[in-house]
Amino acid sequence: MKKYIVAVVGATGVVGQEMINVLEQRKFPVKKLVPLASERSLGMTVKYKGENVDVQELKPESFENIDIALFSAGGSISEKFAPEAVQRGAVVIDNTSHFRMDNNVPLVVPEVNADALKEHQGIIANPNCSTAQLVVALKPIHDYATIERVVVSTYQSVSGAGKEAISELENQTRSMLNGQGQPEKNKFPYTIAFNVIPHIDVFLDNGYTKEEMKMIEETQKILDSEIAVTATTVRVPVFIGHSESVNIQTKKKISAKKVRELLKQAPGIEVQDDPASNIYPTPQEASGKDPVYAGRIREDISMKNGIELWCVADNLRKGAALNAVQIAEELIK
Ligand SMILES: NC(=O)c1ccc[n+]([C@@H]2O[C@H](COP(=O)([O-])OP(=O)(O)OC[C@H]3O[C@@H](n4cnc5c(N)ncnc54)[C@H](OP(=O)(O)O)[C@@H]3O)[C@@H](O)[C@H]2O)c1
Repeated sequence: MKKYIVAVVGATGVVGQEMINVLEQRKFPVKKLVPLASERSLGMTVKYKGENVDVQELKPESFENIDIALFSAGGSISEKFAPEAVQRGAVVIDNTSHFRMDNNVPLVVPEVNADALKEHQGIIANPNCSTAQLVVALKPIHDYATIERVVVSTYQSVSGAGKEAISELENQTRSMLNGQGQPEKNKFPYTIAFNVIPHIDVFLDNGYTKEEMKMIEETQKILDSEIAVTATTVRVPVFIGHSESVNIQTKKKISAKKVRELLKQAPGIEVQDDPASNIYPTPQEASGKDPVYAGRIREDISMKNGIELWCVADNLRKGAALNAVQIAEELIK
């Protein structure tokens, strides 16, 4: 079997680390792993297949001989270095928002639109973590009943904002439980410990946040530009795992039973839905796992053709690293 030289850009970050785990766990045919990060990480190593691999400083020349480059070091890094990688013959799978809405860049969730990969010109974008899990849940329903409108509210974990955000929740929680007064805040505008913040990324002129507009536009690009989408994105004091309350209006009537049936057969999603036994997905249970989980599936009593559901996934896996590696797997098929 052919093996590939794979670079991970942002290898010391939460997504980068998870990418390395996923490459190993899924036995991706890696000939050589090249972990790249900033100058700050020189001297550090990452663990891959029981070995310590030296982290290298990201430079344009880092991409000589690289076959596949998985990027997760922020949009400005992708903007500058993804073209350098492509120019040197690598295929880039980018986790940042930089290229997602570019018409020349496919935005892919393999369970939903793997076909779009055929159009790639060297760069493939991975959607926002909240979009990835949403479209996996929507796709089977859309194919059967044509979704007209989606109203989604998210409950997003702090790991979605990177390693410093994880430390911020840890430190604030410790400080508040120890009675040490107002904890420090850097990553979030308010204390995130024991709180809920209805604000992810920057506010735009239309009153939405950029995170909300990403969910709206990316869902339309991946699934169907005709679907009306509105979103409210909220940060909650959970370490890993994003949850979403999803209200779906369809053209054709669909029962809750049929939705359960469709989702049970669909790829990448698992139904956990037995309210009588308190069975529904939660982020703690979904953390470290691959599927998108759906539960609380019911018909919306406020309208004719409406479905309510609750969907949960590990944002570092399906929302980022796993989806990126699945794209790489599709590419080498
Ligand atoms: N977290 C999620 O759930 C998620 C989901 C989808 C997409 N993403 C996207 O993935 C990207 C990374 O997110 P993250 O959560 O992993 O962040 P993170 O934990 O803060 O890690 C950031 C990574 O980027 C590297 N980096 C930063 N500045 C750099 C520079 N100038 N040159 C080279 N490397 C640099 C860091 O290296 P050092 O350690 O050397 O600083 C680190 O490896 C972001 O664009 C984010 O939007 C994240």
